[in-house]
Amino acid sequence: MAPTSSAELLQAQAELWCHAFAYLKSMALHSVIKLGIPTAIHRCGGAASLSELHAHLPVPASKLPRLSRLMKLLVTSGVFGEREAGVYSLTPVSRLLVEDDAEGGRACLSPFAILATSPFHLRSSQRLAEWTEKEEEDAAAETPFMMAHGAGFYGYAGRDLELGALFNEAMGADSRVTAGIVVRECGEVFAGLASLVDVGGGDGTMAKAIAKAFPHVRCTVLELPQLAGTMPVGGMVEFVAGDMMEFIPPADVVLLKSVLHNWSDEDCVRILKRAKEAISTREPKGKVVIIDTVAGSASSKQAFEAQVFMDICMMMLTTGEVRDEEKWRGLFLHAGFSRHKISPILGSRSLIELFP
Ligand SMILES: C[S@@+](CC[C@H](N)C(=O)[O-])C[C@H]1O[C@@H](n2cnc3c(N)ncnc32)[C@H](O)[C@@H]1O
Repeated sequence: MAPTSSAELLQAQAELWCHAFAYLKSMALHSVIKLGIPTAIHRCGGAASLSELHAHLPVPASKLPRLSRLMKLLVTSGVFGEREAGVYSLTPVSRLLVEDDAEGGRACLSPFAILATSPFHLRSSQRLAEWTEKEEEDAAAETPFMMAHGAGFYGYAGRDLELGALFNEAMGADSRVTAGIVVRECGEVFAGLASLVDVGGGDGTMAKAIAKAFPHVRCTVLELPQLAGTMPVGGMVEFVAGDMMEFIPPADVVLLKSVLHNWSDEDCVRILKRAKEAISTREPKGKVVIIDTVAGSASSKQAFEAQVFMDICMMMLTTGEVRDEEKWRGLFLHAGFSRHKISPILGSRSLIELFP
């Protein structure tokens, strides 16, 4: 509906400014992580002025007034608090950006935020409109990422050391947070099992957390050779190089965390069929465990918005999507599974158990 009064018009204009400049919030977030501000505030006891933080920051004194303008934007967005004028504090959001502190057992999601605000994502996002104009069949324009970088996401990440390192760090950070919740709250999922294969398990963060919490479960990670080949041999988990589209090593549980949302329906069915073969000799206890987003299961407005952002991110980087329960059910039936159980325990993500 068109604004009718001057007040409505000005309100709409202000809203439009906020949408159009929203990327500056992302870039301000990127900047304060790079400058180490959340960690500096933590080291100063959880609240500090910029002059108190100065000794910890790679910023000349002449730039502190400018930095206070970036901080103002992030206070407005809820990333930081402001106890009194110019005294900044951590909020639950910026606490997630404090570098790992083994003693406190805190996980740090800075690598995830840095990846999401990196040129790899930004350049892809700038191709969204052009990509939407292309025919589906145009192989050179499979994704906006491919249009921006000339290759598919995993092919490019395997060749570009900077993206490979950023991506693996970001996924490892995400897995540290998720693994903490899964081992605390989902112990019964792993009860009575002897083996697990984490398919597309990245640097093994999730598998290691499960092996540590449930020592009766022998854990293997199946990964692309470009990553599996760089992992140490003889650790807590075994790395196997391979292609999940072709073969998944047999185990009581096949775990697929944040994997299927990267792939088209056709590819997901193929992966799920390989997963079913992998557990086929372990019936009746064999199952597939999926940790992924189920659209519509969000526990809050922010969790819902996070799901919508993740869906666009998947469209930008991969041929995958964030699926609702009906779409997930269709994939499970096509792959030959008879029963599933969804537990929406992870905010914007769910844990799905899948039985043959
Ligand atoms: C989105 S990441 C998720 C990583 C990990 N599961 C996590 O949640 O932290 C997807 C992973 O799948 C791996 N991958 C991609 N294609 C694969 C394939 N054909 N076979 C095995 N792994 C693959 C990638 O290397 C990447 O580590």
